[in-house]
Amino acid sequence: MARWQEEIQAILFGPDVIREKVEVLARQISADYCTSAEPLVLVGILKGSLFFLADLARALSIPVEIELMAISSYGAATRSSGAVRLLKDLDTSIADRRVLIVEDIVDTGLTLSYLLRNLRERKPHSLEVCTLLDKPARRCVDIPISYSGFVVPDEFVVGYGLDWDQRYRNLPFIGVLKPECYTLEAGEG
Ligand code: PRP
Repeated sequence: MARWQEEIQAILFGPDVIREKVEVLARQISADYCTSAEPLVLVGILKGSLFFLADLARALSIPVEIELMAISSYGAATRSSGAVRLLKDLDTSIADRRVLIVEDIVDTGLTLSYLLRNLRERKPHSLEVCTLLDKPARRCVDIPISYSGFVVPDEFVVGYGLDWDQRYRNLPFIGVLKPECYTLEAGEG
Protein backbone atom coordinates (compact mmCIF):
# COMPACT_ATOMS: atom_id res chain seq x y z
CA MET A 1 0.00 0.00 0.00
CA ALA A 2 1.34 3.44 -0.91
CA ARG A 3 2.27 5.54 2.11
CA TRP A 4 -0.21 8.26 1.17
CA GLN A 5 -3.10 5.80 1.53
CA GLU A 6 -2.52 5.76 5.28
CA GLU A 7 -2.72 9.54 5.57
CA ILE A 8 -5.20 10.71 2.93
CA GLN A 9 -8.85 10.29 3.90
CA ALA A 10 -10.43 11.22 0.56
CA ILE A 11 -9.52 12.19 -2.97
CA LEU A 12 -11.30 15.41 -3.93
CA PHE A 13 -10.04 15.83 -7.50
CA GLY A 14 -8.27 13.15 -9.49
CA PRO A 15 -5.76 13.73 -12.31
CA ASP A 16 -8.37 13.67 -15.10
CA VAL A 17 -10.67 16.13 -13.32
CA ILE A 18 -7.73 18.46 -12.66
CA ARG A 19 -6.58 18.23 -16.29
CA GLU A 20 -10.06 19.09 -17.57
CA LYS A 21 -10.34 22.05 -15.21
CA VAL A 22 -6.92 23.36 -16.22
CA GLU A 23 -7.98 23.17 -19.86
CA VAL A 24 -11.20 25.08 -19.14
CA LEU A 25 -9.28 27.79 -17.30
CA ALA A 26 -6.68 27.94 -20.07
CA ARG A 27 -9.36 28.39 -22.73
CA GLN A 28 -10.94 31.25 -20.77
CA ILE A 29 -7.61 32.97 -20.19
CA SER A 30 -6.49 32.48 -23.80
CA ALA A 31 -9.74 34.00 -25.05
CA ASP A 32 -9.54 36.95 -22.66
CA TYR A 33 -5.95 37.87 -23.54
CA CYS A 34 -5.77 36.89 -27.22
CA THR A 35 -6.02 40.46 -28.49
CA SER A 36 -2.95 41.62 -26.60
CA ALA A 37 0.17 42.18 -28.71
CA GLU A 38 2.56 41.43 -25.87
CA PRO A 39 2.92 38.10 -24.04
CA LEU A 40 0.94 37.67 -20.84
CA VAL A 41 3.20 37.57 -17.77
CA LEU A 42 2.32 34.57 -15.59
CA VAL A 43 3.55 35.07 -12.03
CA GLY A 44 3.68 31.76 -10.17
CA ILE A 45 3.92 31.88 -6.38
CA LEU A 46 6.34 29.28 -5.02
CA LYS A 47 6.14 26.58 -4.12
CA GLY A 48 2.52 25.49 -4.20
CA SER A 49 1.68 26.78 -7.68
CA LEU A 50 4.48 24.87 -9.44
CA PHE A 51 2.45 22.06 -10.95
CA PHE A 52 -0.60 24.18 -11.74
CA LEU A 53 1.59 26.83 -13.36
CA ALA A 54 3.40 24.26 -15.48
CA ASP A 55 0.18 22.63 -16.70
CA LEU A 56 -1.73 25.90 -17.18
CA ALA A 57 1.10 27.52 -19.13
CA ARG A 58 1.27 24.55 -21.50
CA ALA A 59 -2.50 24.58 -22.03
CA LEU A 60 -2.61 28.27 -23.00
CA SER A 61 -2.76 29.13 -26.69
CA ILE A 62 -1.38 32.66 -26.26
CA PRO A 63 2.24 33.78 -25.83
CA VAL A 64 3.31 33.95 -22.19
CA GLU A 65 6.34 34.79 -20.11
CA ILE A 66 6.86 32.98 -16.82
CA GLU A 67 8.00 34.69 -13.63
CA LEU A 68 8.25 33.31 -10.11
CA MET A 69 7.93 34.89 -6.69
CA ALA A 70 8.52 33.40 -3.26
CA ILE A 71 7.39 34.85 0.03
CA SER A 72 7.91 33.76 3.60
CA SER A 73 5.04 32.24 5.52
CA TYR A 74 3.81 34.59 8.17
CA GLY A 75 3.84 33.54 11.81
CA ALA A 76 0.84 33.81 14.09
CA ALA A 77 1.91 37.31 15.14
CA THR A 78 1.94 38.76 11.64
CA ARG A 79 -0.93 36.77 10.16
CA SER A 80 -3.64 39.29 10.94
CA SER A 81 -1.71 42.15 9.34
CA GLY A 82 -0.85 40.14 6.25
CA ALA A 83 2.79 41.15 6.60
CA VAL A 84 5.06 38.78 4.71
CA ARG A 85 8.67 38.85 3.55
CA LEU A 86 9.63 38.70 -0.10
CA LEU A 87 12.18 35.89 -0.56
CA LYS A 88 12.36 35.95 -4.35
CA ASP A 89 11.25 38.84 -6.50
CA LEU A 90 10.38 39.03 -10.19
CA ASP A 91 13.31 39.06 -12.61
CA THR A 92 11.73 41.69 -14.82
CA SER A 93 9.73 44.90 -14.75
CA ILE A 94 5.97 44.51 -15.10
CA ALA A 95 5.32 48.21 -15.77
CA ASP A 96 2.59 48.47 -18.41
CA ARG A 97 2.45 44.67 -18.78
CA ARG A 98 -0.58 42.38 -18.51
CA VAL A 99 0.03 40.21 -15.46
CA LEU A 100 -1.75 37.12 -14.15
CA ILE A 101 -0.86 35.80 -10.69
CA VAL A 102 -1.09 32.00 -10.59
CA GLU A 103 -1.81 30.46 -7.17
CA ASP A 104 -2.61 26.96 -6.02
CA ILE A 105 -5.02 28.09 -3.27
CA VAL A 106 -6.57 31.20 -1.80
CA ASP A 107 -7.23 30.52 1.86
CA THR A 108 -7.28 33.51 4.22
CA GLY A 109 -6.37 35.73 1.27
CA LEU A 110 -3.52 37.40 3.17
CA THR A 111 -0.82 36.21 0.77
CA LEU A 112 -2.62 37.59 -2.25
CA SER A 113 -3.61 40.74 -0.45
CA TYR A 114 0.09 41.45 0.09
CA LEU A 115 1.07 40.41 -3.44
CA LEU A 116 -1.62 42.50 -5.10
CA ARG A 117 -0.56 45.57 -3.11
CA ASN A 118 3.08 44.93 -3.90
CA LEU A 119 2.61 44.32 -7.63
CA ARG A 120 0.11 47.15 -8.17
CA GLU A 121 2.79 49.61 -7.06
CA ARG A 122 4.80 48.54 -10.13
CA LYS A 123 2.07 49.93 -12.39
CA PRO A 124 1.16 46.93 -14.56
CA HIS A 125 -1.33 47.51 -17.37
CA SER A 126 -3.55 44.87 -15.74
CA LEU A 127 -3.21 42.57 -12.75
CA GLU A 128 -5.50 39.59 -12.26
CA VAL A 129 -5.60 36.41 -10.19
CA CYS A 130 -5.99 32.79 -11.24
CA THR A 131 -6.23 30.15 -8.52
CA LEU A 132 -6.83 26.45 -8.85
CA LEU A 133 -8.47 26.18 -5.42
CA ASP A 134 -10.58 28.62 -3.46
CA LYS A 135 -11.30 27.99 0.23
CA PRO A 136 -13.78 30.76 1.08
CA ALA A 137 -14.56 29.49 4.59
CA ARG A 138 -11.34 30.93 6.01
CA ARG A 139 -11.17 34.18 4.01
CA CYS A 140 -10.36 37.26 6.09
CA VAL A 141 -9.73 39.72 3.29
CA ASP A 142 -11.69 40.09 0.08
CA ILE A 143 -9.66 39.09 -2.99
CA PRO A 144 -10.73 39.74 -6.59
CA ILE A 145 -10.33 36.34 -8.25
CA SER A 146 -10.75 36.38 -12.03
CA TYR A 147 -10.21 32.66 -12.66
CA SER A 148 -11.01 29.97 -10.09
CA GLY A 149 -10.89 26.20 -10.55
CA PHE A 150 -12.55 24.50 -7.61
CA VAL A 151 -14.10 25.63 -4.33
CA VAL A 152 -12.82 23.41 -1.51
CA PRO A 153 -14.20 22.77 1.96
CA ASP A 154 -12.40 23.93 5.09
CA GLU A 155 -10.17 20.87 5.29
CA PHE A 156 -6.43 20.26 5.00
CA VAL A 157 -5.88 19.66 1.29
CA VAL A 158 -2.65 18.30 -0.20
CA GLY A 159 -1.33 17.20 -3.56
CA TYR A 160 -0.72 18.75 -7.00
CA GLY A 161 1.59 21.30 -5.39
CA LEU A 162 -0.05 21.63 -1.99
CA ASP A 163 1.96 20.28 0.92
CA TRP A 164 1.79 19.10 4.46
CA ASP A 165 5.14 19.99 6.04
CA GLN A 166 6.67 20.01 2.51
CA ARG A 167 5.35 16.50 1.74
CA TYR A 168 2.76 15.34 -0.75
CA ARG A 169 3.23 18.15 -3.28
CA ASN A 170 3.94 15.47 -5.89
CA LEU A 171 0.66 13.58 -5.53
CA PRO A 172 -1.09 13.62 -8.93
CA PHE A 173 -4.45 14.31 -7.24
CA ILE A 174 -5.80 16.68 -4.60
CA GLY A 175 -6.87 14.96 -1.42
CA VAL A 176 -7.84 15.61 2.17
CA LEU A 177 -5.28 14.83 4.84
CA LYS A 178 -6.53 12.85 7.84
CA PRO A 179 -6.87 15.25 10.79
CA GLU A 180 -4.98 12.85 13.07
CA CYS A 181 -1.84 13.43 10.96
CA TYR A 182 -1.47 17.10 11.74
CA THR A 183 -3.01 16.99 15.21
CA LEU A 184 -0.58 14.22 16.19
CA GLU A 185 2.30 16.21 14.69
CA ALA A 186 1.32 19.31 16.68
CA GLY A 187 1.08 17.24 19.85
CA GLU A 188 4.56 15.85 19.35
CA GLY A 189 6.10 19.35 19.05
C1 PRP B 1 0.07 28.63 0.49
C2 PRP B 1 -0.47 28.83 -0.91
C3 PRP B 1 -0.73 30.30 -1.00
C4 PRP B 1 -1.06 30.66 0.45
C5 PRP B 1 -2.53 30.83 0.58
O1 PRP B 1 1.42 28.90 0.49
O2 PRP B 1 0.44 28.42 -1.89
O3 PRP B 1 0.40 31.01 -1.43
O4 PRP B 1 -0.62 29.56 1.29
O5 PRP B 1 -2.86 31.07 1.93
P1 PRP B 1 -3.55 32.42 2.41
O6 PRP B 1 -4.64 32.74 1.44
O7 PRP B 1 -4.06 32.03 3.79
O8 PRP B 1 -2.52 33.49 2.48
P2 PRP B 1 2.39 28.47 1.68
O9 PRP B 1 2.70 29.67 2.53
O10 PRP B 1 1.84 27.28 2.39
O11 PRP B 1 3.73 28.10 0.92
P3 PRP B 1 3.95 27.03 -0.24
O12 PRP B 1 3.25 27.55 -1.47
O13 PRP B 1 5.43 27.00 -0.41
O14 PRP B 1 3.37 25.71 0.23
